[in-house]
Amino acid sequence: MGIKRVAVSGYQEMSDRAALLVIQRIKEKPDLVLGLATGSTPLGLYERLVESYQQGETDFSQVATFNLDEYCGLSKNHPQSYQYFMDKHLFSLVNIDCRQVHFPQENDGLDKYEQKIKDTGGVDVQILGIGRNGHIGFNEPGSAFTSRTRVVDLTDVTIKDNARFFARPEEVPRRAVTMGLATIMDAKEILLLASGASKASVVERLMTEKQSVDVPASILWGHPKIMLIVDKEADGN
Ligand code: PGA
Repeated sequence: MGIKRVAVSGYQEMSDRAALLVIQRIKEKPDLVLGLATGSTPLGLYERLVESYQQGETDFSQVATFNLDEYCGLSKNHPQSYQYFMDKHLFSLVNIDCRQVHFPQENDGLDKYEQKIKDTGGVDVQILGIGRNGHIGFNEPGSAFTSRTRVVDLTDVTIKDNARFFARPEEVPRRAVTMGLATIMDAKEILLLASGASKASVVERLMTEKQSVDVPASILWGHPKIMLIVDKEADGN
């Protein structure tokens, strides 16, 4: 139990370390089930996974993926939808079978998403970023540690953080579907990434080891196999 903290110099090294782990896990288990996150944090990791595929080192043909979250009300072809993001940065660039790629959908039956994860054998490695307010996925402060996949209202902080991706603030979705905190905790292994000065204060709060719904990521202290890769700027310690 407890978060194993690995301190690295910067974004590049964080991405390299994360990619090495994922590549290793796919080698050990070619039909690995990956839990994936969007946002700027995992972009470097995805770039390295694509490079590894292009170099003939990693084969995604049997890999299955479950994304953490998705906005409500955006079509999957909307440039700000998470499905579009994943296609652009990873799925269209590697030999993944699109039938093995999964996103939570409001209209799809949220229990079905949980069931699909179970039917695939559960998430082997879950990639996570962390929000400035401590959210993981769209589990905002106050989310129950027992929460499962559901529709949530986004907080003002998150809406503001996401506004940079939209032409006008009114376009930023107010609701999303997210895996719950308990869903995330079911993953066999978790890789939490944090980079940049804007994350320093939340990383510092997380590393106090105090579990509280005020910092949703603090639930991760109860996970048996979790590594935080944190760069110098984000390292509050
Ligand atoms: P970011 O988002 O990777 O764009 O910083 C992280 C998050 O909000 O979970």
